Amino acid sequence: MSKKIFSGVQPTGNLHLGNYLGAIKNFVNLDNDKENECIFCVVDLHAITVNQDPKKLRDNIRETLATFIASGIDPKKSIIFNQSKVSAHSEAAWILSCVARMGWLNRMTQFKEKAGKDKEKASVGLYSYPVLMAADILLYDTTHVPVGDDQKQHLELCRDIAQKFNNDFKVGNFFHVPEPLIKKEFSRIMSLKDGTKKMSKSELSDLSRINLKDNKEEIVNKIKKAKTDSLPLPTSVVELEKRPEAKNLIGIYASLLNSNSEKIVKEFSGKNFSDFKESLSQVLVEKINPISNEIKKLLNEKKYLDAILLEGSEKADEKASKKLKKIQEIVGF
Ligand code: AMP
Ligand code: TRP
Repeated sequence: MSKKIFSGVQPTGNLHLGNYLGAIKNFVNLDNDKENECIFCVVDLHAITVNQDPKKLRDNIRETLATFIASGIDPKKSIIFNQSKVSAHSEAAWILSCVARMGWLNRMTQFKEKAGKDKEKASVGLYSYPVLMAADILLYDTTHVPVGDDQKQHLELCRDIAQKFNNDFKVGNFFHVPEPLIKKEFSRIMSLKDGTKKMSKSELSDLSRINLKDNKEEIVNKIKKAKTDSLPLPTSVVELEKRPEAKNLIGIYASLLNSNSEKIVKEFSGKNFSDFKESLSQVLVEKINPISNEIKKLLNEKKYLDAILLEGSEKADEKASKKLKKIQEIVGF
């Protein structure tokens, strides 16, 4: 069956291995399937829910696009655009914010994490962020949404909004209720400094993540310094549950090789971390270096990148504005 795919990545800099293994690598696989219609969005409206330097934001929009292309997404096949250029996203988000319930949004754990202790000072946009995400998805009759594990709750909210709209206005399946595509394994890559914390763009220590723009020396150094425990590598996957750092590093290795943790545990059973880290660095350099070189090359081709975003936004706008018009008719505008 052909799938309609939509996903988004925030242009907030420092795209890392978690973004790649949890999301972008899956975008590439879906994009390679001729049957699928894919839309990948650089979600700049989502980015400004926290403070952004305007100049850096502009650069990061291009860099996110460059990362998509360098990772293997074909801009001739898929639509790639930045969210702010298609005004239907903001307009649909407003209407959907009148469908979504406060109680639903109050349960969103990502808001609680991102707002931190001082919730009063968080932007209203950060709070209503998942409603905009629902608009992104629902405007394109999306059937499948590939994301990392941290977006699961937002997708459930999107499904609830779609169903409530369909029910409230008695419009059958006007909004298609989308399915999340979240890998069972490796959908949550953890920090290299703490195996219980998600690898994140905003973590202060750069040693906590492999950035997709890191060079060979940086990758090798970060893996060398990655936290481990004092035991040799486990002899069974069951042991991994109590050893978060070992679990994460083995998961990264397995995911890069399209293998699974069980096979990797067997291969390195009882060996020292130093041996394993050497192999892991090698595979990382092999897989990440070509991507980072390509990103750096593409960043010099601003006109090419801008042309892709322009063409993508025109194509997206055509689809989104049609759907928005129907939404407006349904609500009585
Ligand atoms: P963001 O950078 O927050 O826009 O995330 C872009 C995509 O990367 C989303 O699908 C996230 O779920 C995914 N992602 C972000 N961090 C991680 C991580 N540490 N492990 C796996 N996936 C991640
Ligand atoms: N909220 C997602 C994240 O931070 C990004 C995003 C915005 C998204 N709109 C989307 C992902 C629509 C999938 C579909 O990672």
